[in-house]
Amino acid sequence: MMQDTTVNPATAPGAPLHVVTGAFGFSGKYIALRLLERGIRVRTLTNHPNGDSSLRSRIEVAPLNFRNVAELARSLQGATTVYNTYWVRFARGRTNHETAVENTKVLIRAAAQAGVQRIVHVSITNPSPASPLPYFRGKAVVEEAIRSSALSYAILRPAVVFGAEDILLNNIAWMLRRFPVFALPGKGDYGLQPIFVEDLAALAVDSGRSRENIVVDAVGPETYSYADLVQLIRGTIGSRSRIVRIPAAGVVLASWLLSRMVNDVVLTKDEVSGLMANLLISKESPTGSTSLRAWLQAHARTTGKNYASELERHYRS
Ligand SMILES: NC(=O)c1ccc[n+]([C@@H]2O[C@H](COP(=O)([O-])OP(=O)(O)OC[C@H]3O[C@@H](n4cnc5c(N)ncnc54)[C@H](OP(=O)(O)O)[C@@H]3O)[C@@H](O)[C@H]2O)c1
Repeated sequence: MMQDTTVNPATAPGAPLHVVTGAFGFSGKYIALRLLERGIRVRTLTNHPNGDSSLRSRIEVAPLNFRNVAELARSLQGATTVYNTYWVRFARGRTNHETAVENTKVLIRAAAQAGVQRIVHVSITNPSPASPLPYFRGKAVVEEAIRSSALSYAILRPAVVFGAEDILLNNIAWMLRRFPVFALPGKGDYGLQPIFVEDLAALAVDSGRSRENIVVDAVGPETYSYADLVQLIRGTIGSRSRIVRIPAAGVVLASWLLSRMVNDVVLTKDEVSGLMANLLISKESPTGSTSLRAWLQAHARTTGKNYASELERHYRS
């Protein structure tokens, strides 16, 4: 049974209330932590109410139930600002990017109904309504729904987010630790501009304070080609895996086989296409300052020690 607390012992009476979707997840956790540091009362909307226990005793919890707009609006009542991290990585079961778009529209409606003034929404670099990739297309549709809502907004567009709980870079390191060969799709010359999760959280919380409508790329100070990024991780963790270049279809097949081995979805065909289409870089100035290279060095012993499973996080209770 989901607990819906109304009193948060961590903040002073009268503190403003902000709502974060997914505060027991990856970026939502750091947004919630930063809000708490600023003395803000935090409520999270989540389907995983028993997540991260250290945060759990400090924030309020309500269901992220898109089928019940009235309940969502009640959970958003009294909040000035909502930080939305909700999205799905890939289609699975009854949920795909189209349903994630509709769900997010429900959240936006509920926020407007509840009198929320501002939404800080986490999107993706280079979304486009014309994209053949449902992830990037869906993100563009959601951005448009936010722009045409009554809420003031900050739309933040990260490319790749790194930090202790990250999945993508961690699992590259995991593969480099375990397998004698690591395959790059194509030439590996397409770019990535990762941002540290705490820099993203800082940007989100700062953006929550203003009422100006903004759309900004959330990217770190370093841009890598995918091949250089894999080399960097390989060198930092001391892997001896041989890096080879193969056609994208080969990587998709290898990912599918590995997915069966680890009982997860390691990388989808669309994710490989998004990567290779150079969509994970920005033309804007960096908004994050933390160096991935430095962070990796500091976390060389732990990065990729354990496999991080998307299905474990989001599909199994
Ligand atoms: N991580 C990255 O490298 C990266 C890169 C670019 C853009 N982004 C964007 O940044 C935002 C946050 O990403 P994140 O990695 O921090 O996400 P996350 O913590 O894994 O999940 C964020 C929220 O989405 C919900 N969610 C995720 N997958 C779901 C599923 N399959 N079904 C139902 N709910 C699901 C979570 O639900 P629960 O609360 O129930 O767990 C949580 O509320 C997303 O919009 C993502 O598109 C992330």
